[in-house]
Amino acid sequence: MNLNELFPSTAIRGTNKELFVGRAKVLKESLIYAQKPGAVLVIIGERGIGKSSLAWQTLSVLSGNTEIFEMQSYKFSKTNLNKYNCVYVECNSDTNNIDGIIKKLLVKEDSNKTDEEQKNIYSLYKELNQAQEYTKLLQENIGISEPENIDIKENNQDFSLPDKLKDRFINLIKKINEQLENELIIFIDEFDAIKDKGGISDLLKTAHGVKFVIIGIGDGIHDIIEDHKSTKRKIRPIILDRLTEKDIEDYISKAQVKIGNTKISFKDDFSKNVYTYSDGYPPLVQKFCDTVMDIIQLEDLENEKVFIDDIYFEKSFKKVLDDETMLNVDLELWRKKVNYVGKEKILFFLAEYNGWIKEKDLKVKNTYRFKDNIKELLQDCLIKKDSYECYKFLNPYFRLIVKDIVNKNGNLYIFEKKTN
Ligand SMILES: Nc1ncnc2c1ncn2[C@@H]1O[C@H](COP(=O)(O)OP(=O)(O)O)[C@@H](O)[C@H]1O
Ligand SMILES: [Mg+2]
Repeated sequence: MNLNELFPSTAIRGTNKELFVGRAKVLKESLIYAQKPGAVLVIIGERGIGKSSLAWQTLSVLSGNTEIFEMQSYKFSKTNLNKYNCVYVECNSDTNNIDGIIKKLLVKEDSNKTDEEQKNIYSLYKELNQAQEYTKLLQENIGISEPENIDIKENNQDFSLPDKLKDRFINLIKKINEQLENELIIFIDEFDAIKDKGGISDLLKTAHGVKFVIIGIGDGIHDIIEDHKSTKRKIRPIILDRLTEKDIEDYISKAQVKIGNTKISFKDDFSKNVYTYSDGYPPLVQKFCDTVMDIIQLEDLENEKVFIDDIYFEKSFKKVLDDETMLNVDLELWRKKVNYVGKEKILFFLAEYNGWIKEKDLKVKNTYRFKDNIKELLQDCLIKKDSYECYKFLNPYFRLIVKDIVNKNGNLYIFEKKTN
């Protein structure tokens, strides 16, 4: 195995599910909610938290592949499971309305994606060797016959079908749902990228019997939840939180591998540091680990054994912090927003903690202007508050930077513009 495949920066899919960790409870909930008649499973959480990975694992199990239960020792009764035909669309600038999604679902995509990633209604039929049947269905319901010949680019005349496209599409998927032995589940990822969400909520309302899973950071999902109070569909939200210390231990111990003659082993202090500095945020966990792999590859692997310990963590940490493109944060802008010592104190305090802190435990709460400072930090999107009145950094990268500052000197006024 290649070292770089150990910690992929993309979502964990069915093909590399052995790398998936934790999430036992939410996976179980996903499986149950997704199967409920009339329900729409909605997976919500901050960018990078692991929504797509969870969605892919859900898809994989619901497609009949249950290995993950054994791999992860998840306890889940298979009698609670049916087999489905799952299709997956990831929204982007090409799919900013319902037409874009319909196209992606109906037409063969010309890309290097694996079969699993390409799964749409077209591939479903191909898999079932019912291409003819599919063509017939398309002809009767949508008015096109040769899915292969349709260019799915925007504004393509061949596919600018009449206004009725949506209704016809809904008819088609309902038919498919009735015809196929296994029911259809449509996964719509990056839901927030859809500009015109109205079309989608109409789709949910009218495509009776068809199951949906919607994945997004949650901004636009609220509209749908509101919209559905009046319909029969029940929205079942799952909100993802950060990974736990145990999850990160698992994530790292899965990577204990032998490459060539070199046995790589991770020491406990390494995973502890990864947890402390990532705050359980998966992309940071991934970056610390993957950066260590880069470092090892640059070193001569002459030794038979490499122990990844806190010294390696420090090297990786420095690299991650130095690489601004990696962090992708506007530190200057943050500096400007932290214009009071009191605010800085709050941030320093939060940086010492993993996870959420209750307001009463924020020891700095009696400092001058505390309430205002908190209010401004919230407004400026530096910190966030959950429904239990607990606080944490909004952006885990910012937490990392603040933590580094605390470690180095802990000086106040650190956010003032440097004068040199
Ligand atoms: N449960 C998990 N186990 C292992 N790695 C994960 C897990 N969840 C997320 N990751 C990793 O974190 C990163 C972001 O995951 P992703 O599913 O793309 O998040 P999102 O869809 O919420 O933006 C990827 O590098 C992915 O491999
Ligand atoms: Mg995603």
